[in-house]
Amino acid sequence: MTRSAAITRQEAISFGNTQGPDLQALCDAAAQLRDRHWGEIITYSRKVFIPLTNMCRDDCGYCTFVKTPESGEAELLTPVQVMTTLLQGQQSGCKEALFSLGEKPEQRYQLARDLLAAQGHNSMVGYLEQVCQMTLEQTSLLPHVNAGTLSKDELRRLKPVAASMGMMLENTSRRLLQKGLPHYACPDKVPVQRLRTLERAGQLDIPFTTGILIGIGETWEERIDSLLAINAIHQQYGHIQEVIVQNFRAKPGTAMAGQPEPTLDDMRRTLAVARLILDPSISLQAPPNLEERYGSYVSAGINDWGGISPLTRDFINPERAWPQIDSLRQGCAGLGYELQERLTVYPAYQQNSGRYLAQDIASRLPQMAAANGLAAQQCQ
Ligand SMILES: C[S@@+](CC[C@H](N)C(=O)[O-])C[C@H]1O[C@@H](n2cnc3c(N)ncnc32)[C@H](O)[C@@H]1O
Ligand code: SF4
Repeated sequence: MTRSAAITRQEAISFGNTQGPDLQALCDAAAQLRDRHWGEIITYSRKVFIPLTNMCRDDCGYCTFVKTPESGEAELLTPVQVMTTLLQGQQSGCKEALFSLGEKPEQRYQLARDLLAAQGHNSMVGYLEQVCQMTLEQTSLLPHVNAGTLSKDELRRLKPVAASMGMMLENTSRRLLQKGLPHYACPDKVPVQRLRTLERAGQLDIPFTTGILIGIGETWEERIDSLLAINAIHQQYGHIQEVIVQNFRAKPGTAMAGQPEPTLDDMRRTLAVARLILDPSISLQAPPNLEERYGSYVSAGINDWGGISPLTRDFINPERAWPQIDSLRQGCAGLGYELQERLTVYPAYQQNSGRYLAQDIASRLPQMAAANGLAAQQCQ
């Protein structure tokens, strides 16, 4: 399943300033590798987004998802609120319930402790486990958990109720923890904690999504080293089903509001190098709603757009609407690729369900998946 990278660290570093025809040649090499391993299909997952809580013990300098109790906007969704959205999603043909949330807010805020206690819990992970279980019992959706750093016990607790999980590595640079940089005062963005979470997920055979956030003050070398770290962990455990290259978007009201955003060339260069560094069996994903000219990601080697909701907004980037699935389909077709809906568990991991999936989740997949492992019912 795993192989070493198509390019070395030194080669990857040498592409840092590649532009013009050289950048095009780099993208062509990445696109050819993608075509060999993924064919002429670009996938997406039809999902509903459940921001279970927007309280968080961290203070990432780029994040507007997070809200403090003082803002009056902090919340913990109740099971009734969660179920309402899940059922709407199910009706709209969604197959994935993405639970994305702030990290360990109960360790920082009395409000979080009080709201959790009202639900009969003293930890976010306990409550998350309950709502994932509820999702499995009362809907046809498969939970995907994006809850940041997790201990081995927490991952073990969530595996029976989550089809897959994810956590952006962001970057392995410890420099970004310094005062004035985006991960200052963020215990969950300490690189070793993120890397340990990736390793623990590998030890527990959890189909996992990770990725890098680009444009947050990291150097090109630090970006390359982050991709190499992800690939090395995958080579050891084999559980990284997809890697996201996400471009930082500057948000008013955040510490990074005035910072420049990555250019399209920077995104294409990073995507192409990621495709050449990572094991080709790892899906390469970039979000289409954070860049107007997202079609050029296809020519830089991506094979997936990630989760797209026909229903809920992107709570992390609420000002950036997801493209209509129809226009995404047309955009892909114009480039010679077919848009197809996948499940949150990629085909290779479904084929090895005894290892990667709890029995309760594995038993649902044959009805949901076509022979090729993508979604049986392709919503139009
Ligand atoms: C909102 S967090 C929720 C999960 C968890 N708290 C964590 O940080 O891993 C999900 C992801 O949103 C992304 N994100 C937050 N603010 C962003 C921004 N301004 N631009 C692009 N991505 C952003 C980060 O990469 C982060 O990993
Ligand atoms: S990105 Fe995640 S960890 Fe950072 S503040 Fe936002 S919710 Fe918290």
